[in-house]
Amino acid sequence: NDLANMMDVSVTQVISTCMSLGIFASINQRLDAETLTIVADEFGYEVEFVKPEDEETHSLEEDDNPDNLVQRAPIVTVMGHVDHGKTSLLDYIRKTNVIGGEAGGITQHIGAYAVKLDDGRKITFLDTPGHEAFTAMRARGAKITDIAIIVIAADDSVMPQTKEAINHAQAAGVPIVFAFTKIDKPGANADKIREQLSTMNILVEDWGGKYQAQEISGKTGLNVDLLLEKVLLEAEMLDLKADPKKRAVGSVVEAALDKGRGIVTTVLIQGGTLRVGDPILAGSHSGKVKALTNERGQKVTEAGPSTPIQILGMNGAPTAGDKFYVLESEAEARQIANKRLQLQREQGLRTQKHITLDEIGRRL
Ligand code: GTP
Ligand code: MG
Repeated sequence: NDLANMMDVSVTQVISTCMSLGIFASINQRLDAETLTIVADEFGYEVEFVKPEDEETHSLEEDDNPDNLVQRAPIVTVMGHVDHGKTSLLDYIRKTNVIGGEAGGITQHIGAYAVKLDDGRKITFLDTPGHEAFTAMRARGAKITDIAIIVIAADDSVMPQTKEAINHAQAAGVPIVFAFTKIDKPGANADKIREQLSTMNILVEDWGGKYQAQEISGKTGLNVDLLLEKVLLEAEMLDLKADPKKRAVGSVVEAALDKGRGIVTTVLIQGGTLRVGDPILAGSHSGKVKALTNERGQKVTEAGPSTPIQILGMNGAPTAGDKFYVLESEAEARQIANKRLQLQREQGLRTQKHITLDEIGRRL
């Protein structure tokens, strides 16, 4: 009936077309993706499937209350070509900016982490994100990143994946800060990189352009502080705010099954505050927050905007890049999750194996 309405033909015509395909459909029957495509084709239509998330008529996210807005830490993604020094840079930053004053707890890898500089300013980094994840997130409309650090090894060149990273950041409208890494190496020549970028119409600041760039060494830590200053300057211009009082929203960074603990979902909170006991929806899975763990493996009762956090209590593993929402009740979350699952099946999408940002990063 729905299909007939969409194509502006009679239901009997659709039913008889189904019949000619050997499908005896009733008026209320839901058809699978293949049948829909074939039937529509018979009437000269091409079927375009939308994501279940895009079908929802009302936004699941609570609006920000302008009175509650507070500054939030920038969420920064490090991207670049294989072996150009992404991980080394992040490791150095992490090592030198372990969140002070909080002793104890083993640092765990959770794919995203927050650092606090000496003066108290905070930055949240996304670990090994890779451009593929970036695309996926963009496609989902989850603009998880505020700023991109694009790493280019000064002893190498602008490489294909460097260009892709630049294209993705530009397409998503995310400001870029360039880090010319491995400047400590004998063969390093940052001017060669500046030159190569200029042929792509990218002029860095010290060449009179608008892009900030910093020569650094992830190995010795040289100038990493200056790089972070540039990132924070960019963040200041973005004037990032969030409402910590609303129901939490954010994006899934990774999710995996832990033998002892069940589904462990790492999320980045983008707005609101997530609390133990909150009913939650992510992709086509739902649940209730049983426990929250920070990147040092410590249990916390709540987490605010720009915080990476691990959740226990989902009934299945969502996909990296999925948005998560805290809803009014567990029943509502379950209902929406089930509807999404049903739509997914109808659209014939094979249940995707979940991929972590890590795995995507490794494929870079
Ligand atoms: P993928 O994750 O594989 O894409 O690599 P990556 O971009 O994370 O590079 P990674 O940090 O793993 O560095 C690759 C190699 O370069 C390692 O052997 C590092 O020790 C070395 N390296 C990274 N940064 C520097 C640097 O600033 N100076 C020097 N001398 N070596 C560096
Ligand atoms: Mg790496």
